[in-house]
Amino acid sequence: MIAGVDNNSIVYLNGEYLRLADAKVSVLDRGFVFGDGIYEVVPIYNGKPFRMHQHIARLQRSLQSVRIDIEYTEAQWMALVEGVLARAEQPQANLMVYLQVTRGVAKRDHAFPAGIEPTVFCMASPFARPGTAQRERGLSAISVPDTRWLLCHIKSVSLLGNVLAKQAAIDAGVDEVLQFRDGFLTEGSSCNIWVVKNGVLMAPEANHLILEGIRYRFLAQLARDAGIPFQARPISAEEVNVADELMLTSATKEVLPIVQYNGNSVGAGKPGPVYSVLRASYDRVIESL
Ligand code: PDD
Repeated sequence: MIAGVDNNSIVYLNGEYLRLADAKVSVLDRGFVFGDGIYEVVPIYNGKPFRMHQHIARLQRSLQSVRIDIEYTEAQWMALVEGVLARAEQPQANLMVYLQVTRGVAKRDHAFPAGIEPTVFCMASPFARPGTAQRERGLSAISVPDTRWLLCHIKSVSLLGNVLAKQAAIDAGVDEVLQFRDGFLTEGSSCNIWVVKNGVLMAPEANHLILEGIRYRFLAQLARDAGIPFQARPISAEEVNVADELMLTSATKEVLPIVQYNGNSVGAGKPGPVYSVLRASYDRVIESL
């Protein structure tokens, strides 16, 4: 039994729907031995997947980037996820789908093994949307060096750098980290970071140094629709220090303001006007699903 999860929830593993507590993979799975796999996290609102096509497209790109051969069409991925959603205890609730594919099970050898089947796993768990405190009071963050590898655009399960970064935030008593490589902002431990200065919304360019979140283009579009100028460009540590607003986005955090950074107030120390506009737009899209 695993604490903190519903052990009776039904998950998908390699063609079967099983109780979570009964779903097992080999210790020689390359996901376990090498972190040799990729994943997706998709939010589901009242039973309706949000931006599922974009998540499946990113899954396919990740698979291609790491050369895991699996001939699933978008429709097959959708069917698999729908199978898990249909078996959820409360299919109409807010849920979070986790989908993971590893290269499969083989004798330990760094080289790709021949003739093995990838391991495919999918589960849905209850998803609590960010509450009033986080939305209205905001989050705190510190800066840390980005110590990760150079293929951060791949949604790999090799997340040790991200895990250590998140723990650095917890150890410092804050909510999140902003990572910097060579003096420039990359992203949070598991979220994209946004900077506002003089009414302009900015984010680091979506290159190999960050994961392009599904909310990256979405938020940029919400900004454009609201008449807020958006720039994707390198953002220095100094610019972050003097930002009017900071915010983050991810599947589970949606969009949230960062109001304390390295112990100082960001802007007025409360959620700013650009955040408020984007937050309201985000909520409207969710409500209209
Ligand atoms: N993380 N950058 C990193 C490193 C991430 O891990 C994530 C998401 C994002 C935002 O991507 P999206 O908007 O598609 O959620 C950016 C997920 C939620 C996770 O690992 O749980």
